[in-house]
Amino acid sequence: MNQPSWLPLLRLLADGAFHSGEQLAAELGCSRAAIWKQLRPVRELPGIRVDSVRGRGYRITPKLALLSTETLLDKLTQPQRDQLEMLHVATIADSTNAMALAQLPTTSGRAKAWFAEHQTAGRGRRGRQWISTFGNNIYLSIAWRFDLPMSRLAGLSLAIGASVAKLLADHGLQGHGLKWPNDLLYEQRKLGGILVEVSGEAQGPVTAVIGIGLNLDMPRDQAVTQAIDQPWVTLNDAGIAPDRSDLAAGLLGALLDACCRFSSEGLAGFLPDWERYELYRGEPVRLQAGKQSIDGAYIGVAPDGGLVVRTAAGTQRFYSGEVSLRRREMIA
Ligand code: BTN
Repeated sequence: MNQPSWLPLLRLLADGAFHSGEQLAAELGCSRAAIWKQLRPVRELPGIRVDSVRGRGYRITPKLALLSTETLLDKLTQPQRDQLEMLHVATIADSTNAMALAQLPTTSGRAKAWFAEHQTAGRGRRGRQWISTFGNNIYLSIAWRFDLPMSRLAGLSLAIGASVAKLLADHGLQGHGLKWPNDLLYEQRKLGGILVEVSGEAQGPVTAVIGIGLNLDMPRDQAVTQAIDQPWVTLNDAGIAPDRSDLAAGLLGALLDACCRFSSEGLAGFLPDWERYELYRGEPVRLQAGKQSIDGAYIGVAPDGGLVVRTAAGTQRFYSGEVSLRRREMIA
């Protein structure tokens, strides 16, 4: 997996300070013209501005805390490192979920993991796109093989949501919640999303690709605001600014631990955490199934992860592939 030729230059500029063309050329062992040429693709990165000022040189805004495989591995526990068959940080990927789906692990209980600094075709649930600006959020996918029948994986995305919500609380976030099945919200706006894509035999084994996008500090420029079709928020807006590598490694560790526990405990072990962060319990909600809307009262989550809603037709259970959920007061 090749990295772009301009990555070493970007690493030098990541501190957000001015660097002269001469100094950059000396450090990278190339000509000033080559630096100028390499800056062209850097200028195209979404969310990155390159300033060039006569007499001072070049700088990028905002400054970046780029991820590296070595730093991430260092921050994991030994059991977590042992579970990893592969860890890759891509500078640019189409979608980390797509990368993971193309190289599924062959051993149960071991994972492959991909981070990207930027995704050109990030995937969201229900066919949406996941806008992925460069270097400031987290885009992570892991692939994990379960020796379980497909039907037992229905609750996996809730287990992952509960684990991520708990991790964020450990990093000091308060007031966040989970909208079934696994939207991470803060003040009713989207802070992160989880996309689980499952493949395999009905009787097992089954491989799950679990992708998570988490907004840390996204620029609010026009292109981003126009491209995202729902209200969104970042950890920075919520008043916390964790070290990006710490949080990325924490997320990876939490996903590995969650997959391990889910293999033995299923959703049951995660339900107390899920319920701690669950939004809308007891409230009026509207479910959207294709063109059909169903109104009801949110009762809770069934042991298999299905959503239980009291509707005019009685108490019904819904699954995440079938419906999307909204609180009714929020519908204009
Ligand atoms: C959602 O719609 O709420 C789910 C969004 C999931 C986005 C993440 S970003 C990393 C991984 N790669 C993708 O293409 N999608 C997921």
